[in-house]
Amino acid sequence: MTTTLITGANRGIGLALARVAIENGHAVLGTARDPAAATELRDAGARVLGLDVADLGSVEALAGELAGEPIDILVNNAAIYPDKAGIEATDLDAFSRTMETNVRGPIAVTRALLPNLRAGDRRVIATVSSSMGSIAKADSGRSYAYRMSKAAVNMMAKALAAELTDFVCLAVDPGWVRTDMGGAGASISPRESAAGVFRVVDGARAEQTGGFIRYDGTTLPW
Ligand SMILES: NC(=O)c1ccc[n+]([C@@H]2O[C@H](COP(=O)([O-])OP(=O)(O)OC[C@H]3O[C@@H](n4cnc5c(N)ncnc54)[C@H](OP(=O)(O)O)[C@@H]3O)[C@@H](O)[C@H]2O)c1
Repeated sequence: MTTTLITGANRGIGLALARVAIENGHAVLGTARDPAAATELRDAGARVLGLDVADLGSVEALAGELAGEPIDILVNNAAIYPDKAGIEATDLDAFSRTMETNVRGPIAVTRALLPNLRAGDRRVIATVSSSMGSIAKADSGRSYAYRMSKAAVNMMAKALAAELTDFVCLAVDPGWVRTDMGGAGASISPRESAAGVFRVVDGARAEQTGGFIRYDGTTLPW
């Protein structure tokens, strides 16, 4: 059985991805900042674990809890998008929080769980990025901290792929999704996004490593 760990799996795309992975026979380790409140995730059949990706002590505690347990696929999904402002109103206080969550978080979790991933059969590390992090597609401005954090995880996928040559390391764009983050006017449902993200991560192939792949399987420009 494939074991998949998904961060931020208590709501939004993470919860939908946990459901799709379980329906497809994966054992899902789903993390939540407040595990006691993650009832939908637990009801979906996931093993619920506590994790705040911005808190390095919490990351280490998770690694300690999972010591010796193989993990096949890691999906770094948890992220925040606290500030959509343009340059004059951009919230500088939100910057460090965004970077600690969206960039240092995936790096810390990946580093901490590397022994588990090395013990797994699949060796896939997927970090949920966004088309907002594509420098080639950035023609609308604003949202500085979020855009820059997603450009940074794109680099993370590329650098990990160069270093971890026996892994498949991907940046995955889930599309514009109707979640708390994406808003009610977004173009696709969490389930549609999650079904696509699942196909990408479950079907990840060696030649795709270092790629920036959309939920529909197409490759995005950096
Ligand atoms: N929705 C979109 O249109 C869209 C588009 C492109 C990319 N994305 C990306 O897709 C991923 C999921 O987004 P979403 O739309 O599902 O967002 P969401 O509905 O806002 O959910 C975010 C998830 O991340 C968790 N999280 C936030 N900060 C965390 C922290 N410090 N530690 C651990 N968990 C934390 C949240 O947990 P709490 O419940 O505890 O806050 C929640 O589970 C993100 O990487 C996002 O950037 C989304």
